[in-house]
Amino acid sequence: MTALTGRVSIVTGASGGIGQAIAESLADAGSSVVLGYGRSTEKAEALRTSITERGGQAVAVQADVSTAAGAAALVKAAVDAYGGLDIVINNAGITRDGLFMRMKEADWDAVMDTNLKSVYYLVQAASRQLLRSRYGRVINIASVAGLMGNIGQANYSAAKAGMMGLTKTLAREFASRKVTVNAVAPGFIETEMTASLGAEIKARLLEQVPLARLGQPRDVADLCLFLAGDAASYITGQIIQVDGGLVM
Ligand SMILES: NC(=O)c1ccc[n+]([C@@H]2O[C@H](COP(=O)([O-])OP(=O)(O)OC[C@H]3O[C@@H](n4cnc5c(N)ncnc54)[C@H](O)[C@@H]3O)[C@@H](O)[C@H]2O)c1
Repeated sequence: MTALTGRVSIVTGASGGIGQAIAESLADAGSSVVLGYGRSTEKAEALRTSITERGGQAVAVQADVSTAAGAAALVKAAVDAYGGLDIVINNAGITRDGLFMRMKEADWDAVMDTNLKSVYYLVQAASRQLLRSRYGRVINIASVAGLMGNIGQANYSAAKAGMMGLTKTLAREFASRKVTVNAVAPGFIETEMTASLGAEIKARLLEQVPLARLGQPRDVADLCLFLAGDAASYITGQIIQVDGGLVM
């Protein structure tokens, strides 16, 4: 028996760097996990296989989180495969960077729909199961960009800041049913999302990080694992940074 035995989780963007680490951590702690993924069936299936080979339980479900149908499919998969739902990790996200004055409406909308409206869709679809669980956990993967802003990321930082406001309201609305809602705000984490940054930009970013290293997906996953567990039952409505001290 481990910390999350008997719990059922959904992780969106599970084929990405941070999502994969979160899914692995939850599964290793005993949770059954619905691995939501956008396009890369190969990566999602490889993750499902590695989790089941380690004795965990997982199903991979292709679902576009920027649609109501995608959210419904993820919740249905959790209920069909495992009989309920306790933990929702809203992790899927994209960037469409550009200076604000030249930012195309399509890039604004794509980032809002994938990074913010997706949380509306999935929590709406999941809320009945979460309230019924009387344990529920919602963990929203935001970003320090939502706290400090970032040149070239008006759409992304607005979506992530929106996610923080939504986190606090949901925390208040769901508290009476023992469902906690928190946001995790990573700094610079080494994944595909940051892989395209040039060496010079990375060096400049690192100068601002007191702990003087990029974060690893595992750094974010460890906090999510804690927030998903019993030990975090008195923590709700919080925005917790995993950023090496970048914002303080
Ligand atoms: N890497 C960083 O430095 C960093 C920093 C702060 C916040 N974040 C946030 O962490 C989360 C994970 O990012 P990552 O670094 O692992 O990036 P990533 O690109 O490796 O993973 C993102 C995942 O989201 C999925 N996705 C995108 N659009 C989707 C859609 N419409 N439906 C379903 N899935 C979709 C992608 O397929 C991908 O698997 C994101 O929300 C990101 O904004 C990352």
